[in-house]
Amino acid sequence: MSTTSSGGLDIRRLDASYMEPIFDLHNAVYEQVGDDTIYRGRDHAHIEAVFAPDALCFGAFLDGALIGYSSVRFPGPDHEGWAAAPGFSPARLPLIAEFDASCVLPASRGMGLQGLLIEVRARASLMRGRPLSLAIVGPKNVYSLRNFLLYGMRGVALHCLPTGEDRFIMARDHSDPLHRAETRRERMPVGLSRAEIEAVLRSGGQLDRVLKDGDIWLYEFVWFADIVDGRTWTETFEARNFFAD
Ligand SMILES: CC(C)(COP(=O)(O)OP(=O)(O)OC[C@H]1O[C@@H](n2cnc3c(N)ncnc32)[C@H](O)[C@@H]1OP(=O)(O)O)[C@@H](O)C(=O)NCCC(=O)NCCS
Repeated sequence: MSTTSSGGLDIRRLDASYMEPIFDLHNAVYEQVGDDTIYRGRDHAHIEAVFAPDALCFGAFLDGALIGYSSVRFPGPDHEGWAAAPGFSPARLPLIAEFDASCVLPASRGMGLQGLLIEVRARASLMRGRPLSLAIVGPKNVYSLRNFLLYGMRGVALHCLPTGEDRFIMARDHSDPLHRAETRRERMPVGLSRAEIEAVLRSGGQLDRVLKDGDIWLYEFVWFADIVDGRTWTETFEARNFFAD
């Protein structure tokens, strides 16, 4: 299935015959990044799983060469994934698409490929009836955060990986109202401590932008009028009645 194509650039869904090239691509980028707070390693079993029926894997090709990939997994009784960690009930898991990984080879960065790979995964998830797109991104991974935020996701919680690294949980509920009244926006430097980020999230703030001011990267958090009762984003989502809203 060819999903997106422009010039020599092509994004398409991959079958299991691509398992080894994807594993090699992942390892090449993992070694290049060399920092688990930005990009974590996946073992062979993990890569195998993105070719299972409860997952999708997309490749980005430039003039026929694989230069990037992304995957998305669909939580269910056999695979709760990390999507269960922020507190979603089993009944909500069938609404969730868990974005699993994306990377682009260094020489091919800057063409907006991650943005395309985010959109392709969200569309494919919607076609499977999964309106809530979730991703986890390292708090200092400004390039990746920027792309998820541009897609309309927001940082709504912090998640600590079993290996100890923190990740923002990025979320976009495609059934959410497009416009809501904002009460406040505040910029803070990238590099805030976990405690400082948690304090912002607890007060109802959500990460909405990252931007560069001179040499300094900044977060921009937003507060909304309808999120006032101190509930976490997950609790708010759990409380929604999708048939009445
Ligand atoms: C995150 C990533 C996929 C983004 O790649 P991309 O989609 O090609 O990047 P973009 O098109 O958004 O790049 C926009 C700008 O940021 C720059 N940029 C992107 N990633 C960068 C990086 N890791 N380091 C430095 N600059 C980077 C691009 O060169 C471009 O600069 P320009 O505007 O001056 O041309 C890529 O950096 C990557 O593979 N990183 C390592 C793995 C990773 O972090 N994956 C995401 C995990 S959540």
